Amino acid sequence: MNENSAVITANTLYKVFKLGEERVRALDGVSLTVREGEFVAIVGTSGSGKSTLLNLLAGLDKPTKGEIIIYDRHIERMNESQLVDFRRDNVGFIFQAYDLLPQFNAIENVSLPLSFWGIDRPTREKMAKKALKQVGLEGYMKHRPTEMSGGQQQRVGIARAIVTGPRLIFADEPTGNLDSKTTEDILHLLQKMVHDGMQTLIMVTHDNNLASYADRRIHIKDGKIVKED
Ligand SMILES: Nc1ncnc2c1ncn2[C@@H]1O[C@H](COP(=O)(O)OP(=O)(O)OP(=O)(O)O)[C@@H](O)[C@H]1O
Ligand SMILES: [Mg+2]
Repeated sequence: MNENSAVITANTLYKVFKLGEERVRALDGVSLTVREGEFVAIVGTSGSGKSTLLNLLAGLDKPTKGEIIIYDRHIERMNESQLVDFRRDNVGFIFQAYDLLPQFNAIENVSLPLSFWGIDRPTREKMAKKALKQVGLEGYMKHRPTEMSGGQQQRVGIARAIVTGPRLIFADEPTGNLDSKTTEDILHLLQKMVHDGMQTLIMVTHDNNLASYADRRIHIKDGKIVKED
């Protein structure tokens, strides 16, 4: 796997947040490389800078200093509309709060990202059903979020992230509120997805046990990488 080419290279990233007079250095010189097809965990305690780092790598926020090269493109130099295109074409997101639309059923929620691609409705539905099958929800296609358990909702969130076939998937505490059995199922699912589909997954977690599912772990403390294993 390490012979695969680098898809993400971050060079000495700094992120400073200004809060009135105060400055918070959330990232303090982070450099890393992620290779194609890798499942990488970013691990650290609360406030260590994990989400800040993920948001920069995903093109959701800009570094104060440093560079981020993804598929040979400098994303820190892109303007907002270039970033929107970049994310649409390359990135899937899985968030802890499932943020599904309550009035939509599973198929409709999963279809949503496809509407930004100008794909017709029957094809969108077909693709959404395929993604829902992949996450084991064939029996819940017409269910609304309130008619599903937390773990099932999280799976809908995963189906929505993978439906466009993104090359890169970013997940921030994807199993935050779930019990340990459901958490384990979802981690296995993510693991299988990455290894079968040759996708690249970057997952943030504070939990060393969850991080053990990844191929590689980047440990972060006070905005710095302290260890990789
Ligand atoms: N928008 C912001 N404005 C000001 N400070 C921020 C902002 N976002 C994050 N921070 C600060 O940056 C530091 C890193 O925050 P970050 O959200 O990256 O931590 P985290 O490792 O994801 O923590 P958690 O596990 O609690 O989600 C913290 O001190 C936080 O208070
Ligand atoms: Mg966080």
